[in-house]
Parts: sequence; structure tokens; C-alpha cells
Amino acid sequence: MQPDKVRRVYIQEVAPRDGFQIEPNFVPTEEKIKLINRLGRTGLAKIEATSFTSPKAIPNLRDAETVMRQIERVPGVVYAALVPNVRGCERALAAGVDEINVVMSASESHNQANVRMTREQSLAQFAALVKAARGSKAFLNASLATTFGCPFDGWTPAEEVMRLVEQILEIGFQGISLCDTTGMANPRQVARLCERVRTRWPEVPFILHLHNTRGMGLSNAAAGLDAGIDRFDASLGGLGGCPFAPGATGNVCTEDLTHMFAQMGCQTGVDLDRLIEIAKDLPRIVGHEVPGQVMKAGQADRKYAKPDWVGTAKNQIAITSS
Ligand code: COA
Ligand code: ZN
Repeated sequence: MQPDKVRRVYIQEVAPRDGFQIEPNFVPTEEKIKLINRLGRTGLAKIEATSFTSPKAIPNLRDAETVMRQIERVPGVVYAALVPNVRGCERALAAGVDEINVVMSASESHNQANVRMTREQSLAQFAALVKAARGSKAFLNASLATTFGCPFDGWTPAEEVMRLVEQILEIGFQGISLCDTTGMANPRQVARLCERVRTRWPEVPFILHLHNTRGMGLSNAAAGLDAGIDRFDASLGGLGGCPFAPGATGNVCTEDLTHMFAQMGCQTGVDLDRLIEIAKDLPRIVGHEVPGQVMKAGQADRKYAKPDWVGTAKNQIAITSS
């Protein structure tokens, strides 16, 4: 296959947040720090290192301050943290994050399940958060969970997403993540929405945050790429999921996504061999197998040793045309 026109894509790692938040066991703080330090040296554009949420809601990330303060900050890598409210924003800024990623859902029910606020209350938090962050250098990104569909309310109307994106931008956010929280989106839906938001707000950096719950994650990423998106969240090994969304499973897998884009001729900036080596260490860290495929299958140009009978076709009985 001929490579496409070279496209630069930015891969943003979310395993330390989206991945570890839903693990059945607490990942020790030192393991989190070691993993983030290794990931920081692979060429990833951004790492979402943790979340500053209520430790009762997300006990697995109760060590957010320690993680954020003790990781190595590799120059050029953006270290982000998810927050649900102003309190989380203040904690994150005090810990020195480069980027605040505040979350609300496009659907009413998931927003209440996840952050215990109505969408109106979340928008009020967003406005207060922009004020609280004034004077800091942190980039302000807003994540819109259940952008494509909600496990409680069903499909999310695109009109609703457009309305919320408009309000969030008016409040003062600089970037928006379109999140398919439970992997409901399909490639056509992704392409249509991405084209719509990019046409309406061409200067805004939009991120696709995809989950592979129904096996459509990579196809959706390819559809987003064709629609002009160049920033993608992904999780090492395919870990991930929202504890407040029934049936949630992992994000698109970072090394699989990086591999796909590299095979398509995109420039990812990521050292894929190094990333795969780190991914292979994940089962030890989390104590179970992980869904990533390229770490098991190898890259597409992997060649196996041939069976010893290959090349001996001359020994076969000649087929004669009698
Ligand atoms: N960091 C730490 N603690 C926080 C906090 C924050 N950002 N926000 C609230 N709290 C604490 C409060 O101090 C209070 O503590 P207490 O019970 O010891 O007094 C407790 O959490 C409840 O506070 P309240 O304001 O009543 O919040 P709530 O119970 O309505 O929960 C959230 C709201 C947003 C704090 C909580 O639902 C949450 O953290 N959700 C995280 C969602 C998430 O990360 N989902 C996965 C990613 S999409
Ligand atoms: Zn997610």
C-alpha cells in the first residue's frame, strides 16, 4: 500500500488515568511513576498522568498529588490531569500540571452518574474553573463524555453536542475532547461529527477519545483522521473505562493505534518498539492480561522463519497436462 500524504498525528496517553481508575486493584504509586517516566521517553505528545477527583469516587487515583509531583517532566511532553470541579482544578494547579482536563457528559444521566451534577451545574463549574485557573499557564481542555452515545440515555443528538461545544468554548476553554465513553460510535457517525465541529470551529484543537468496547475503536480513529482530526487519546495495552458507565471497557490501545497510523504513513513521533516493550510490562503491573494486539502479534512487517519445506516445491510430483 502506498503511504498517504504524510500527516502528523499526536498520540496522547491516558492509561495512568483512564486505565488505572477502573483497575480492580490499586496500582502502587511507585509503579505509576515509573510507568509515566518510561512513557515520557517514547515520543508521546501528552500524558494524562492522573485525576484530581474525590478519593471516594475514584480511590485508585487517591495518590494524584504524589504522582504529579514525583514524575520526571520530559521537555516537550504535556502532562495533563483530569478534574471534575473547581476543587480538583485547584489541586491540579498546585501540583503543577501543564493542562487541566475538566470533564462533563453530553448526556444528562451520565453526567449525574459520573460527577453528581446536572449539566447546567457542570457548566457553572466550568465557568468558575476558568476563573480559578486565570493567571496560571495551564492549558484548559474540556472533555465531553458520552459525545456519541450514553449507556443510560441512548444516542446523543449531534445538535446537543454542537450546543455544548459552543457553550464550553464561550466559557473560555481552549481545546475539546470528543469522548466515546462506552464505544457506541461507528465510523460514519465519527466522520460526520468531526467534519461538523471542524468546519464550525477550524481553529479549535479537537481530540478524539475513543473506547474499543464494541471493536470499532481503530475504525473510528481512521474515520476521525480522514475527517481532519490529528489528536487522539489512547491507553497503553488497551486499559481503561469509566467506573460510572455500565459495561465500559478499554480505550483504543496506544501501541495498536500508533502502529495503524504508522502503517498508514502518518508521522506519529512515537518510538513504537519502545512503546511495545513498555506495554509488555503491563500485565505484571496490573496483574492480568491486557487487550492490546500488536504487542502479541508484532508489527505488520514482522516476518516469520519459513517452514523447512518452503522452497522445496521441485520435489513435488510434477503436474502434467496429459
Ligand atoms: N478532590 C478531592 N475531594 C473532593 C473533590 C476533589 N476534586 N471534590 C469533592 N471532594 C470531596 C468533598 O470534600 C467531600 O469529601 P467528604 O465526604 O470527606 O466531606 C466529598 O468529596 C463529596 O463532595 P461533594 O462536593 O458532595 O461531591 P459529590 O459526592 O457530589 O461528588 C465529585 C462529586 C465530582 C467530586 C465526584 O463524583 C467525583 O470525584 N467524580 C469523579 C468522576 C470521574 O473521575 N469519573 C471517571 C472519569 S470520566
Ligand atoms: Zn475514557
